[in-house]
Amino acid sequence: MEIKNQANPTHKICLACCSWSWMKFTFLAVLYCLILSPAAAYDPLDPTGNITIRWDVMSWTTDGYVAAVTMNNFQMYRQIPSPGWTLGWSWAKKEVIWTMVGAQTTEQGDCSKFKATIPHCCKKTPTVVDLLPGVPYNQQFANCCKGGVLASWGQDPSAAVAGFQVSVGQAGTSNKTVKLPKNFTLLGPGPGYTCGPAKVVPSTVFLTADRRRKTQALMTWNVTCTYSQFLASKNPSCCVSFSSFYNETIVPCPSCACGCHNIKNCVKSDSNLAHKAGINTPKKDNSPLLQCTHHMCPIRDYWRVKMAVTNFNYRMNYTDWTLVVQHPNLNNVTQVFSFGYKPRPLPIHDTGMFYGMKFYNDLLMEAGPSGNIQSEVLMQKDQNTFTFRQGWAFPRKVYFNGDECMLPPPDEYPSLPNSGHVTLFQSYKRQPPCF
Ligand SMILES: *[C@@H]1O[C@H](CO)[C@@H](O)[C@H](O)[C@H]1NC(C)=O
Ligand SMILES: *[C@@H]1O[C@H](CO)[C@@H](O)[C@H](O)[C@H]1NC(C)=O
Ligand SMILES: *[C@@H]1O[C@H](CO)[C@@H](O)[C@H](O)[C@H]1NC(C)=O
Ligand SMILES: *[C@@H]1O[C@H](CO)[C@@H](O)[C@H](O)[C@H]1NC(C)=O
Ligand SMILES: *[C@@H]1O[C@H](CO)[C@@H](O)[C@H](O)[C@H]1NC(C)=O
Ligand SMILES: *[C@@H]1O[C@H](CO)[C@@H](O)[C@H](O)[C@H]1NC(C)=O
Ligand SMILES: *[C@@H]1O[C@H](CO)[C@@H](O)[C@H](O)[C@H]1NC(C)=O
Repeated sequence: MEIKNQANPTHKICLACCSWSWMKFTFLAVLYCLILSPAAAYDPLDPTGNITIRWDVMSWTTDGYVAAVTMNNFQMYRQIPSPGWTLGWSWAKKEVIWTMVGAQTTEQGDCSKFKATIPHCCKKTPTVVDLLPGVPYNQQFANCCKGGVLASWGQDPSAAVAGFQVSVGQAGTSNKTVKLPKNFTLLGPGPGYTCGPAKVVPSTVFLTADRRRKTQALMTWNVTCTYSQFLASKNPSCCVSFSSFYNETIVPCPSCACGCHNIKNCVKSDSNLAHKAGINTPKKDNSPLLQCTHHMCPIRDYWRVKMAVTNFNYRMNYTDWTLVVQHPNLNNVTQVFSFGYKPRPLPIHDTGMFYGMKFYNDLLMEAGPSGNIQSEVLMQKDQNTFTFRQGWAFPRKVYFNGDECMLPPPDEYPSLPNSGHVTLFQSYKRQPPCF
């Protein structure tokens, strides 16, 4: 594998890669260039995507309160993968955490002022993490103990929620005197989230177990955190390459689509290092170890009727991955092989989410022989709009785990031959070389 154009990360096609495929759909549409900018915090495919943290004060105590904290991942496509979320905040005054159920702080801090009962945490800025599965029953709390892993809302709302209980001391003891915690931070598990201030909202109403009586929190406040791909990383984490049956050109991922800064440390797939023991050991800071490719992306997606996702990170297994594709013809999906599929709810029909099937391919393994997954999608052809012209067959946007992927520039998409007819839906004989 030759890496060209390192210093100048403009799009240069240096290598053809990926297998060929046939396509079964198309239209005529505006193609536009993808530009990632800091302003791109707003995600058009999931405009209201957020994580909301709700504190319900369940009782006032002699020196504070007991609150049930619920964290909902309202993001359609972005899960919180292992090693899970980390939630932090600053106390407004001299509050301490007497006890915590269903979660724990990472540090106790200096509790030397306390004599009889020692608090769980005395830090001004506590950092809270979920407990691991399998903790004793008396340490559990509703929706806790999942190692901090949250599914995306689109995939499984029931698994997109976390919860723990916190008993706070040296705090206000009424809704007039209590001070809301400040400066919430959320890592999930890397950077990218920004949290707003806590806001008092109408008290949550709970239904008793037999559903015959309603109770109410004494006071409720919400914190909303939103994700920005740009904050998470300067570069995209995935890229897309295209091939079609009507043109032998294979449009690869743009060179350095995901930055060239990893090039010095990458591992050649045929080198001894790729087979060395310990190569797959994740690092504390989650830094990837990438296979050398010209695009230097940890993930590459091919879009065709055949889709393949290839993992180039030796240090990462992706569990419960999601792949979101925007294409106008996704309103006519007829059949999806090997992947689960959920169309986006009405009224927007052009976006669909693919995900792995439990115990079959919901785990995208680390880089190497098992580090790829594949599927085929059949879409019904719409006679009025169907065309192969102007690269219409290719998706407008592709997201992996909620992060937008780098697409090749539209002017390089495989184009139709000028003369002669193309036999649609012909099946194919030739397989361009893969690396
Ligand atoms: C957070 O997401 C929920 C669910 O999509 C939405 O109802 C709510 O308005 C969002 N909150 C903010 C502040 O965007
Ligand atoms: C507060 O957060 C909860 C989710 O935990 C949400 O259902 C509720 O609508 C939010 N309230 C407001 C006023 O945003
Ligand atoms: C919250 O953060 C702001 C800005 O970083 C800082 O000025 C303020 O002191 C912090 N508040 C607390 C209670 O830590
Ligand atoms: C505070 O509590 C009083 C009753 O104790 C109630 O009338 C009031 O609405 C509460 N205020 C808030 C902001 O919850
Ligand atoms: C990925 O999962 C496999 C099988 O569970 C495991 O052997 C391997 O160590 C994992 N790799 C990483 C990078 O966690
Ligand atoms: C394909 O999409 C069009 C436009 O949304 C719709 O009218 C038609 O019923 C769809 N066909 C199928 C088979 O779903
Ligand atoms: C294939 O597509 C490329 C890129 O759009 C174009 O330059 C080339 O002329 C096309 N080949 C044929 C045979 O049309």
